[in-house]
Amino acid sequence: MDASNDSRLKVAVIIGSTRDGRFGPTVTSWLLGHTARREDMDVDLVDLTETPLPTVFPAFGQPPAEGTEELLAAVSPRLAAADAFVIVTPEYNHSFPAPLKNAIDWHNQQWHAKPIGFVSYGGLSGGLRAVEQLRVVMAELHAVTIRNTVSFHNYGDKFDADGKAVDPAADAAAESMLNQLAWWAHALRDARSIRPYAV
Ligand SMILES: Cc1cc2nc3c(=O)[nH]c(=O)nc-3n(C[C@H](O)[C@H](O)[C@H](O)COP(=O)(O)O)c2cc1C
Repeated sequence: MDASNDSRLKVAVIIGSTRDGRFGPTVTSWLLGHTARREDMDVDLVDLTETPLPTVFPAFGQPPAEGTEELLAAVSPRLAAADAFVIVTPEYNHSFPAPLKNAIDWHNQQWHAKPIGFVSYGGLSGGLRAVEQLRVVMAELHAVTIRNTVSFHNYGDKFDADGKAVDPAADAAAESMLNQLAWWAHALRDARSIRPYAV
């Protein structure tokens, strides 16, 4: 595997939950342990609590309010620079959290022709309903969603005190998802460089 700096993939890992006391960082830290061991990826951790975008959008053709431009400047270029994304999401009422949808909606071209992997957690469903809904949303934004996912059912029992996954199957699932993400990220980055994606 060619892992020179030029070929390394920029992967934006997005924490989908912004809730006070959220569990998301535990799941994300575990995922970052996997990405850190790879030679083909550099990760940019995007924590939506740091850029709380408003839910009121400007009129079409109008610029966002001044404070909003600052928030966008702190997150949008990082999404634009990413070759691939991993979204870490819980399940809220059989879907994904509203702040995540808001951050998705504030952007458009940043998602185009790029792959997105998912790590989810929740109760009995392990957040899979959130992931399946995200696939529909991200298809509208010209993104490619990765087939394999990682999901933590009844997530509270699934990590030890050190933040390690208690079931090694979760580690295998992460490797599988990241391998597929890397394949698509390389393929789509190459394709975009030859022929810019036009919608
Ligand atoms: C508003 C809300 C709705 C929820 N709905 C679901 C649900 O539909 N299915 C589920 O498995 N868990 C649900 N949960 C439980 C979450 O999976 C659990 O609280 C988890 O910790 C949320 O992730 P977070 O701590 O990172 O915010 C819900 C939690 C909240 C706050």
